[in-house]
Amino acid sequence: MDSMEFNKIFAAILVAGIIAALTGFISKRLVHPEELKEAAYHIEGVEDGAGSGPAKEKLAEPILAMIGAADIGKGEKIAKACASCHTFDKGGANGVGPNLYGIVGANKQAHAGFSYSGSLNAQGGDVWTMAEMNKFLWKPKKYAPDTKMNFLGVKKPADRAALIAYLNSNSDSPKPAPSDADIAAEQAELAPAEEEAAPTAEEGEGEAAAAEPASH
Ligand code: HEC
Repeated sequence: MDSMEFNKIFAAILVAGIIAALTGFISKRLVHPEELKEAAYHIEGVEDGAGSGPAKEKLAEPILAMIGAADIGKGEKIAKACASCHTFDKGGANGVGPNLYGIVGANKQAHAGFSYSGSLNAQGGDVWTMAEMNKFLWKPKKYAPDTKMNFLGVKKPADRAALIAYLNSNSDSPKPAPSDADIAAEQAELAPAEEEAAPTAEEGEGEAAAAEPASH
């Protein structure tokens, strides 16, 4: 065969090899959607830009700044996801999980007649403040690995804010919206500023929007 022919065959083999390598790489990425999503965040610079330094442990996004203006009606709808295990009405029965009337501001694991795992107060004290509720509802099993609550969590910060605003309203004595000091303390814990600008509630929402496509 002439050298032209040889070159073509060689090129074809090379291209096939590159495609095979790429396909392998891509399918490896696909079996770890979580990892892929993280990588996508970093490429878009949505999280903390630059991509310098070791990956930080991911924390729940702060939500206290959103509580004041949160949509309680939307929160009530989100709470339907809890209704297979929890009742919300005053004096309602315990089910798979305890009744949740008046839960915001209540002591953890305190509802009469329910047999708790005992693991919910392993972090963050003994009271269901809105800040604690946010961390718990983000990923219950991360908050308390031994919890009996078999529920993946509520991913979007705005959804958690609405849900917590609803839970708070579902009470004899709803708590006032978080103070500036509460909001600042939550920011310091969950979204410590690394660069010049402190993260804002708006950035939290931007991140939720960016996460949307990956959640389908
Ligand atoms: C599959 C059942 C199930 C679902 C769904 C579920 N929970 Fe739970 N939940 C439980 C169980 C069981 C516990 C007790 C956990 C323990 O003892 O570790 C619990 C505990 C809790 C507590 C702590 C109560 C206390 O008295 O300390 C809160 C708050 C809570 N759930 C909120 C929710 C919300 C809000 C949702 C919906 C977004 C939800 N849960 C969905 C089963 C569930």
